[in-house]
Amino acid sequence: MHRIAVLPCDGVGPEVVAEGLKVLEAAAAIYDVEYETVEYDIGGERYLETGEVLPDSVMAELCESDAIYLGAVGHPDVAPGILEQGILLRLRFDLDQYINLRPIRLYPGVETPLKDKGPEDIDFIVVRENTEGLYAGVGGSLRKGTRHEVALQEAVYTRMGVERCIRYAFELAGTRDEKKVTMVDKSNVLTFGHDLWVRTFDEVGEEYPEIETDHAYVDACCMWMVKNPEWFDVIVTCNMFGDIITDLGAMVQGGMGVAASANINPDGVSMFEPIHGSAPKYTGRNVICPIASISAAGMMMEHLGEVECGKAIEDAVIAALASGKLGDLSTRSGVSTTEAGDLVASLVE
Ligand code: IPM
Ligand code: MN
Repeated sequence: MHRIAVLPCDGVGPEVVAEGLKVLEAAAAIYDVEYETVEYDIGGERYLETGEVLPDSVMAELCESDAIYLGAVGHPDVAPGILEQGILLRLRFDLDQYINLRPIRLYPGVETPLKDKGPEDIDFIVVRENTEGLYAGVGGSLRKGTRHEVALQEAVYTRMGVERCIRYAFELAGTRDEKKVTMVDKSNVLTFGHDLWVRTFDEVGEEYPEIETDHAYVDACCMWMVKNPEWFDVIVTCNMFGDIITDLGAMVQGGMGVAASANINPDGVSMFEPIHGSAPKYTGRNVICPIASISAAGMMMEHLGEVECGKAIEDAVIAALASGKLGDLSTRSGVSTTEAGDLVASLVE
């Protein structure tokens, strides 16, 4: 029995999570997967009402769950940072979900702005370090609010943190057909932090002679993701660059509506979410594409060891997209969130 904590949170989060749970229910019934869900009402609304962001009592229960299924965090009436740091980053950090896994894959039937590239060209996965770097929250300000203000925001890299992330990428590459890891950094400028990444990558890479290695500076990586996405198989990169290149990746694979993500602690509680945000302006309008959230539910099942169930969800997503019935996946597609979820759920086999 898997105990899944559900955190719909803000904006369109509840809508896309509902569709993911709908598809999960359909797949679990076929594959005899036993699970229970426990929903928590944390998010912007609760914060505005009570001042609570992530109460310790909720955190304690999340630590006991087998996985966390998250919608989206961010509320227009709450100052930026409070919910992002207090919920999303706190969960990633406190649960030590040190890998942020983001597949970038063009499904058949989905349009990409890269007109002459097809599903065989766009199929890679970003392993984003998820607990360090510029996200570590190390820094401070001096003389704040004055004309002499000084602000420091430090990037923190540890040998342990970098090595476990790079090792994860090599192990993952070993399970894929292409068996190639590209490290993306800015080691020509970040000569301390990213030098550590380069040395660690070279050392760990020697332990995996069967895996091809490559290197790209992050700016060039952005160019190649558009020009030659077929060059990539597994990309490993730091937290900040991973954040940025996976928004680009989401566009390359056809839009935010299809981009899923997994925050993984291989030995602890992992969390699954679409990479899109809470999209406040579309809240409650039943227009957001739930495919990313549904795919995240599929990743969650695979992670929980329910490999057939996870693959069935993924296959149903592929079948729904290939059917052409989901339109252009935008908010103007004419297909509602619930209709898209119904279609995927009906295609699970
Ligand atoms: C993401 C988001 C988060 C991040 C924000 C909401 C803190 O953009 O999951 O990519 O920067 O990691
Ligand atoms: Mn992001």
